[in-house]
Amino acid sequence: MSNDQRFFDFLKERIGLDVTSVGSAIIERAVRQRIIAVPGRTADDYWQSLQHSGQEQQALIEAVIVPETWFFRYPESFATLARLAGKRLAEIKHLRALRILSLPCSTGEEPYSIAMALLDAGLGAHQFKVEGLDVSPLSVERAKAARYGRNSFRGADLAFRERHFEAEDEGYRLSERVREQVRLQVGNLLDPALLVNEAPYDFVFCRNLLIYFDQPTQQQVFEVLKRLTHQDGVLFIGPAEGSLLGRLGMRSIGAAQSFAFSRQGAPEPQPLPTSLPTLLPTLMPAPLPVRQVLPQTVAPVIRPLPFSQARPAVAQAKGGDAAALLAQIAALANSGKSAEARAACEQYLRSHAPAAQVFYWLGLLSDMAGSALEAQGFYRKALYLEPQHAEALVHLAALLASQGDAAGARRLQERAARSERTADSERKR
Ligand SMILES: C[S@@+](CC[C@H](N)C(=O)[O-])C[C@H]1O[C@@H](n2cnc3c(N)ncnc32)[C@H](O)[C@@H]1O
Repeated sequence: MSNDQRFFDFLKERIGLDVTSVGSAIIERAVRQRIIAVPGRTADDYWQSLQHSGQEQQALIEAVIVPETWFFRYPESFATLARLAGKRLAEIKHLRALRILSLPCSTGEEPYSIAMALLDAGLGAHQFKVEGLDVSPLSVERAKAARYGRNSFRGADLAFRERHFEAEDEGYRLSERVREQVRLQVGNLLDPALLVNEAPYDFVFCRNLLIYFDQPTQQQVFEVLKRLTHQDGVLFIGPAEGSLLGRLGMRSIGAAQSFAFSRQGAPEPQPLPTSLPTLLPTLMPAPLPVRQVLPQTVAPVIRPLPFSQARPAVAQAKGGDAAALLAQIAALANSGKSAEARAACEQYLRSHAPAAQVFYWLGLLSDMAGSALEAQGFYRKALYLEPQHAEALVHLAALLASQGDAAGARRLQERAARSERTADSERKR
């Protein structure tokens, strides 16, 4: 599609989505999906209706966003929040309730996790209120319904489910007690009028969104987040999103695996890794090198992992046929039947929701076939769906390094290292 740039520009302007961060194919797919929703409609017809219909604009946004989230994602951050909340209440002499913001809140798992963590820490219902905002009205509606399937419960420790949910036929229903702590509404982080009349928040969560923005947009958004965070408050971000904050005068509070920053916090910023030597051996057990490209600070040999299927993508797929197909892809690829493995991946994507692991496999298959550009596209899609997909991060880093983009490679390596540390700490829990 030659005129896609206008759709890229539209999404960048409306929600900040940066085509180079996510890859054009994801956006093209969403646009195509919307075009064919009306039989016979051309791209130009669609562009016209997009200009004049708020409903169509929203539909495109819904088609392109990634609502991927789950309860107690980065568990340490909730323990840190509970610890800081007690301290903050003492600081404000218990004169008001704590104000907490979750933006973007997606389908509600994050704001409800905040509420559960604070109730479990012994705070009373009157001592805090959580607000959740997201640009997707559909996600906010789902959040309000507060009914969840198995995919929302991913960690090893699910004791909170016993305490706060009731099992239903199709999943779990969140208790009224938790729901009452959380107010949910639609809101766009790029809206200049966002929450302008609100007092600043004691704690702000903005996780796994900035990763999809380019640097100028990240900078603009961080200024907004700084405004929303109380002078003595704390901002929680995603593991890969901290690099700009230091430059904006915010400091890591030094709480491990919490990715928490204060406006005038402890002087110790979280150290960023400068190389991957401890990460790569655990990620890359097999010996055969396919590309020797990385600069000296990075372990020199990058090769595809054996094809494994033990990743969350399996959980996302519906039904036994999806799991069987994933197993089949792994078996085909491991036995060297690349063409068949690729065909099975394509079949999977035709018949199931997009899965990060499948795009990662396609990336590896393209990589092994020598199609670097194609591989790069697939790895980016995997990362769009699952920003911390460690293998996709490492392989894309290797590709960028081989193309001379050392800075891009390093950014991904740092993300991969953080992803691995997070996974480690989640495994230890
Ligand atoms: C991957 S989810 C993150 C949810 C949660 N914070 C977490 O980390 O689990 C990303 C969410 O960002 C929302 N989003 C995308 N652009 C946005 C914008 N400009 N303003 C507010 N929300 C946005 C999407 O609708 C999606 O629900």
